[in-house]
Amino acid sequence: MTGELSPIDKAKFVAAKRSVDFVEDGMRVGLGTGSTAAWMVRCLGELVCEDGLKIRGVPTSTRTAELAREVGIEVISLDEARWIDVTIDGADEFDGNLNLIKGGGGALLQEKIVATASDQMVVITDAGKEVEKLGAFPLPVEVIPFGWQTTKSLIEELLISMDVLGRDASLRMNGSRPFVTDEGNYILDLHLGRIGDAHQMAMVLNQMPGVVENGLFIDICDVVVVGFGDGRVETR
Ligand code: 5RP
Repeated sequence: MTGELSPIDKAKFVAAKRSVDFVEDGMRVGLGTGSTAAWMVRCLGELVCEDGLKIRGVPTSTRTAELAREVGIEVISLDEARWIDVTIDGADEFDGNLNLIKGGGGALLQEKIVATASDQMVVITDAGKEVEKLGAFPLPVEVIPFGWQTTKSLIEELLISMDVLGRDASLRMNGSRPFVTDEGNYILDLHLGRIGDAHQMAMVLNQMPGVVENGLFIDICDVVVVGFGDGRVETR
């Protein structure tokens, strides 16, 4: 399944492979989005097809739903599942309190809904994503297209009163057009450098009209499985 992998892909793969230990027969499993999560979906598919593991997967994006079906995982919606036993997903940054920045792949809204509806959220990453303070990775904020430029200006104004290093927001693009999420929204990436109070930032952003959700996952993740380029895995 892996062939010749770069150290970073190997780190992602070994974390993903270890994370399927959290999955048991009969579970409803939240399936994250991104390259690390894609490894995990493939590992689960192998267990389903070769070992007869019985699970139902709740994908967090159309991309993940397609991959899950392709590798033989039964796919159900969150409304069919109602509640999820374990969600396994990637992240863009994590800190010592297991708080995260997510949404680099643009799926943060479904990812947060699914993770919040789960008994356990397991995050899989390569070691390079561990930070002391969140914010070096641009914080994705999903906004509705209506009036997005006004929403962007309001966010930039709001950032003046927050404990951050940078204050620029940029519209995520897909070639020459705005990137559009599975929900038909846009993403603003906030270049903050360092977020002093991530909890406050997450709450304040979501109070703004036009903001649908932000990529700060505070007190949601239970375990981070960290992979290294030499094949080692650590659990935090
Ligand atoms: C998608 C995400 C991804 O989990 C995050 O961007 C990490 O991606 P990758 O595993 O490809 O590094 O939040 O919205």
